[in-house]
Amino acid sequence: MTTQPPAGYAYGSTPPSPVSRDELAKLEATVLFTADDVQDLRMAGDVLEDQVEDILDVWYGFVASHPHLVAYFATPDGRVLDDYLARVRQRFGQWIMDTCHRPHDEEWLSYAHEIGLRHTQDKKNQTDQAASVRHIPLRYMVAFIYPITATIRPFLANKGHDEGTVERMYQAWFKSVTLQTALWLQPYAADTW
Ligand code: HEM
Repeated sequence: MTTQPPAGYAYGSTPPSPVSRDELAKLEATVLFTADDVQDLRMAGDVLEDQVEDILDVWYGFVASHPHLVAYFATPDGRVLDDYLARVRQRFGQWIMDTCHRPHDEEWLSYAHEIGLRHTQDKKNQTDQAASVRHIPLRYMVAFIYPITATIRPFLANKGHDEGTVERMYQAWFKSVTLQTALWLQPYAADTW
């Protein structure tokens, strides 16, 4: 990873989330996220740090091989926007490290809300001035939890940790992705969230 923050990355300077700390704590409890998971994610961060580009290759390969998914990085008439893909890729890499290392404080909650907004018609495309389609359907946000989770496991196993340790890092990752996706859905359905 470069030392420069990725273009359009606004961690620490986004407005407060409408989600309260209490609501966050209840969501964490719902996905069984504990202090042990914080430690296991930190370990995962050390394991994944020099594999981020390889992980992104897998995720981008997955998106690119599904026309109905790459369509969200394309114009409404289907022209794929390579600059948009490239800029979002850098922030995606940063998110992997943030997921492992950032504490779940007000700034984290605020940026989680920002990431949610950036998938909706409120803010998609704005950061990169992309001429793309207006939003990512909510159903794909939920469905993406699976590939983003399943594909991480081989990378967690790449550094020689025993099976039990890999499993703990994997479960912590799964909980965090589920938790974050739940937060990201707030702007999709604010009234019923
Ligand atoms: C942006 C992760 C679902 C397409 C992002 C970013 C992250 C991310 C970390 C960059 C946030 C930032 O700007 O700092 C995820 C995860 C998902 C998910 C973990 C589900 C578990 C999806 C789906 C699609 C998608 C289903 C559709 C193919 C995009 C696009 C952007 C983006 C187009 C750029 C949005 C913009 O214009 O700012 N995603 N995403 N994402 N993601 Fe997702």
